[in-house]
Amino acid sequence: MGLAAPVLREVAAAPARPQVPYVDFQAQYAEERDAIHACVDRVFTRADFVSGSAVAELEASLAERCGTAHAVALGSGTDALIFALKALGVGPGDEVITAPNSFVASASCIVHVGARPVFVDVLDDQNLDPSKIDAAITPRTKAIIPVHLTGRIAEMEAINTVAAKHGLFVIEDAAQSISSRYRGRAAGALGHIGCFSTHPLKNLGAAGDGGFLTTGDGDIAARIRRLRNHGMLDRDTVAEWGYVSRMDTLQAAILNVRLGRLDNVIAKRRANAERYRTLLDPAFVFIPPARAHAFDTFHTFVVQVDHRDALRAHLLAQGIETFIHYPRPIHLQPAAKELGYGPGAFPVTERQAGRILSLPINQYLTPGQIETVAAAVNAFYRSQKAADHA
Ligand SMILES: Cc1ncc(COP(=O)(O)O)c(C=O)c1O
Repeated sequence: MGLAAPVLREVAAAPARPQVPYVDFQAQYAEERDAIHACVDRVFTRADFVSGSAVAELEASLAERCGTAHAVALGSGTDALIFALKALGVGPGDEVITAPNSFVASASCIVHVGARPVFVDVLDDQNLDPSKIDAAITPRTKAIIPVHLTGRIAEMEAINTVAAKHGLFVIEDAAQSISSRYRGRAAGALGHIGCFSTHPLKNLGAAGDGGFLTTGDGDIAARIRRLRNHGMLDRDTVAEWGYVSRMDTLQAAILNVRLGRLDNVIAKRRANAERYRTLLDPAFVFIPPARAHAFDTFHTFVVQVDHRDALRAHLLAQGIETFIHYPRPIHLQPAAKELGYGPGAFPVTERQAGRILSLPINQYLTPGQIETVAAAVNAFYRSQKAADHA
């Protein structure tokens, strides 16, 4: 498929042009070529390469979309999480609760501000189990970072209730969930701060790293605008030691173009998910059920299955690319050794780690390609069953 190798370095090798590619950046470029070239031309003509007008335009659109007073563009989703913790005063000696089955940044951000990640196991749908949070809270707990994994919002009503009871901050890790909704509100407007990634693989992705955060608090937004730019109040005044995490104007310009198409991208991904739901045999494949009070955006379409690795090999042999998000939980990573968790600490997460498989769901797939994947999955299990009974 000719994709830039580093973006997809974790994709298992597939035949030259897969029958069903996991992502399709070439199709995306064909669709957007003129608009992208116009972005390049505009930014180079204005030469406002850093913090240019496209960044302010993007921030206004993102705040409106998320239903928050402020959005602040940053260099990555990881920086958004780190800055959110810093802005809320989380630091050494503090504990922060999050999910062990997420992308590593949900936990590394906590370590980077000098605090300690405390994990809580997840529900069938891979999101934080609110009923297990209470038991993980200590006098040192300062915040909860629920992760809206796959584009599906965690059970925020129950999470916010526990947080309010204990006076904790809630930072949404909405890196995978732009425009997902829960009880009428958008991701990013459901806690104190919402953190998003615009990595190229996200539903709203740039042509490189990027991210942003949302908040209703003007003081927090102002502090983060300072932190992203060396802690500067103005050109000559450094109010505090800061960082360099501004969004490139070119990335913002591209994101402005893609934001205009995002609803269409999400509609196509939701249609693909719906098609999978009707085609995949529930006797073999578990799909977290849709909820009436939530709107999922399917950054990934993760099923849970027995014999996952054999299925994955079977699909790859037919040119169907898949991912595993994520095969090794964070608490079992070598980097997490000092936290003292071992195998068995989070049974739901650990069981899911061996069963989860992300099927292709990108917006360029045809109904026929979704049918091909579903048929290949169902055939794999039916032939297994037939062999078991032989
Ligand atoms: C759940 C989650 N949190 C945080 C991040 C970090 O975002 P970024 O890669 O933009 O730093 C990601 C990105 O992959 C993510 O999926």
